[in-house]
Amino acid sequence: MTAQDTKERLLDVKGLTVEIDGRRGPAVVVDGIDLHVTKGETLGVVGESGCGKSLTMLSLMRLLPNKIKVTSGSADFDGQDLQKMSARALRKVRGGDIGFVFQDPMTSLNPVMRVGDQICEPLLYHRGMSRQDARKRAVELLRLVGIPGPQERLNAYPHELSGGMRQRVMIAIGLACEPKLLIADEPTTALDVTIQAQIVDLVKQLRSKLGMSVVWITHDLALIAGLADRVVVLYAGTVVEDAPVDALFANPSHPYTRGLLASIPTLSDSPAARLSSIGGTPPEPGRRPSGCPFAPRCPLAMDICRRDVPKLEPISSEGSHRAACFAVQKALKAA
Ligand SMILES: Nc1ncnc2c1ncn2[C@@H]1O[C@H](COP(=O)(O)OP(=O)(O)OP(=O)(O)O)[C@@H](O)[C@H]1O
Ligand SMILES: [Mg+2]
Repeated sequence: MTAQDTKERLLDVKGLTVEIDGRRGPAVVVDGIDLHVTKGETLGVVGESGCGKSLTMLSLMRLLPNKIKVTSGSADFDGQDLQKMSARALRKVRGGDIGFVFQDPMTSLNPVMRVGDQICEPLLYHRGMSRQDARKRAVELLRLVGIPGPQERLNAYPHELSGGMRQRVMIAIGLACEPKLLIADEPTTALDVTIQAQIVDLVKQLRSKLGMSVVWITHDLALIAGLADRVVVLYAGTVVEDAPVDALFANPSHPYTRGLLASIPTLSDSPAARLSSIGGTPPEPGRRPSGCPFAPRCPLAMDICRRDVPKLEPISSEGSHRAACFAVQKALKAA
């Protein structure tokens, strides 16, 4: 890695490990993850349900639920370690320079506060706007995320809105302060495709207007193909592959990534064709196998995979495409 690469990193996460304190003792759920986002870049984070996407992002903001904690690692944002920062300094970053869209809008919106006030709050706190300007900006934001009658909606409470509307309010809050980094956790799952396309366009516009960086967490690989510059594939709390988006789709290498891509139906599939998917389920916390966590489900697993943990290693000559897989490394050596 060159000094230039390091300098351009807006977010640089190293060795992030998260444990759940369960009845059977602590269990690792995020296992020493490294990931980074450069300025102006959109990083897609993909993986099946339960692979640790949300806990990774919540741990960055130090918003983990009870009994779940970061046990090691660092997360540099714009030159400061979010893990070591004082609670006060972190409050300045959260919602200001880092906008966050949570996966579940019902639990993250305040049920007894009008949505207008919830959108104005970060504008008053982080940007020092007057109440009047903040309300104007809130109307503009609601319009931008495609909410009809934005002026009237300011006075609504979250329960008066549909699930899709609430999700859009969350997006408006995440974008309110024009953050340097937007972390969006499944932000468009409850939205129909037209609104989803509108939100994706809005994020793309802000990216080019403000040079905003984005971390976009999703199950939707088709959406990632059209939005991300680079993709990180998570499995059981580890990064199994990362690559520029085109390289990932042209040459998916890890058997898990290949399995995820094979699960996407295409127009050429006959109606009778069954959706192929990866057999089995990810390991539960505390029941991670030794060796490669994917080995029990992997069609290519060898003895070494059940014994040792593969490291994330470059599989392209310039090193930007990496996979953590003994079978991939063996095939590369043989080639
Ligand atoms: N509050 C909690 N208490 C106990 N276990 C939890 C809690 N939150 C998450 N977990 C467990 O931690 C693991 C990772 O969860 P996480 O929510 O990060 O997954 P995810 O990748 O975001 O999944 P999804 O795609 O369903 O949102 C899962 O096994 C989950 O069951
Ligand atoms: Mg999640």
